[in-house]
Amino acid sequence: MTFGCQMNRLDSETVAGRLLEDGCREASSLAEADIVVINTCSVRQHAEDKVWSLLGALRRRKERRPEMIIAVVGCMAQKEGRRILERMPHVDVVCGPQELARLPELVAEARERRERLVATGHSAACLPRVVARRPNKFQAFVAIMRGCDNFCSYCIVPYVRGRERSRPPGEIEDEVRRLVADGCKEVTLLGQNVNSYGRTLGDGTTLASLLRRLDRIEGLERIRFVTSHPKDATDELFEAMGELPSVCHHLHMPAQSGSNRVLRDMNRRYSREHYLERLSRLRELVPDVEVASDFIVGFPGETEAEFEETVELVREAEFLNCFIFKYSPRPGTRAARMPDDVPWEVKRERNRRLLAVQEEVMRRRQAAMVGKEVEVLVEGPSKRDKTKLTGRTRQNHIVAFPGEASLVGRTVQVRIIDSTPLTLFGEVVGEVAR
Ligand code: SAH
Ligand code: SF4
Ligand code: F3S
Repeated sequence: MTFGCQMNRLDSETVAGRLLEDGCREASSLAEADIVVINTCSVRQHAEDKVWSLLGALRRRKERRPEMIIAVVGCMAQKEGRRILERMPHVDVVCGPQELARLPELVAEARERRERLVATGHSAACLPRVVARRPNKFQAFVAIMRGCDNFCSYCIVPYVRGRERSRPPGEIEDEVRRLVADGCKEVTLLGQNVNSYGRTLGDGTTLASLLRRLDRIEGLERIRFVTSHPKDATDELFEAMGELPSVCHHLHMPAQSGSNRVLRDMNRRYSREHYLERLSRLRELVPDVEVASDFIVGFPGETEAEFEETVELVREAEFLNCFIFKYSPRPGTRAARMPDDVPWEVKRERNRRLLAVQEEVMRRRQAAMVGKEVEVLVEGPSKRDKTKLTGRTRQNHIVAFPGEASLVGRTVQVRIIDSTPLTLFGEVVGEVAR
């Protein structure tokens, strides 16, 4: 079971791949499982609460089947460590994200010796991915770096994921080549701040140079990357996005706030003006680009006027999509020492208001897509309407349309006939030849 971000999803895939290679089989249900691995997130209190209640619910199962091994891994395992064993006597293994390379061994040890184990150290070793193990054949996540050194004042990630380290470009290229040889058409490069990719290698490697290298791989249709920190978003990167045919014109560049006071106290190290300047430069160099952003509402001391500056930014920026979060104090971070003085109801209200503004933007911009033709990589049946397929454009619009299951994994041309704030609806007009 996986909570949290895409990095966690990739880590879960990798762990599952390793365990299967070691001779495990996938259980058809939780009731049958001999090993349960829960990959956790600490980014907000709510994410942790969900894990605590899941663990509570697993207690009865373990009483009925004492041979079952329960491993809690990921960011919350790192943060809480031994406290998880203390609060949850039925948990056998606690393993942080930097020690996942040892997980198969820890699980085996816990089974054989009936011991309870905790691994929350810092190891440079990464669990090598099993190329064939991914949710679908034509898409894959690829971690290009680990950890984060930015220490945004609200954020737990640098504490649980450790120092920033980039993987050598040759190793990444090899992995992507193996994925493409196995049928992969789209890769999403992952890192907490991919814009600083290469810094720890010290040889001039940058995200732009990595993209240039990967763009040459025959058969790779689409390259995406997340997440971009506005302070490190360079013209060199925007130029590469504009020039390289396989790089998708979509950038996830979280602004977090539109107020300079809040941005400063968040330790984001850019201003509202810098953010907007980067956005307009990007649109100059990549005219059809779509941008997504994250925002935190109710950061310590956020006044109504400061919140209004965020609202204005959202009106002005014309994002494709926004992820809006209510501030949640994380113990040990710098912001946790400031009073969490915006009441919960105010956070909820600001969240709702910001979302409403963004919805208006989306409604208008999505409606303007009607009549256009877009290129869609078909991902699978729509969750909402089983008679339809869904997929994404290069700019990351979600598109739903009627079609045969045989189109899944293919790239088609779709004419847009209708829209909602989050989804475009259309009809297939042809397949895109490659
Ligand atoms: N590394 C990525 C994402 C980090 S977590 C980045 O820097 O963009 C994803 C999002 O969660 C962040 O962008 C932020 O908007 C939100 N977030 C992080 N810590 C939070 C906290 N303490 N309270 C509320 N939201 C938070
Ligand atoms: Fe957290 Fe900031 Fe690092 Fe993102 S860049 S993971 S928000 S510290
Ligand atoms: Fe991701 Fe949550 Fe960890 S967002 S890095 S799983 S704290």
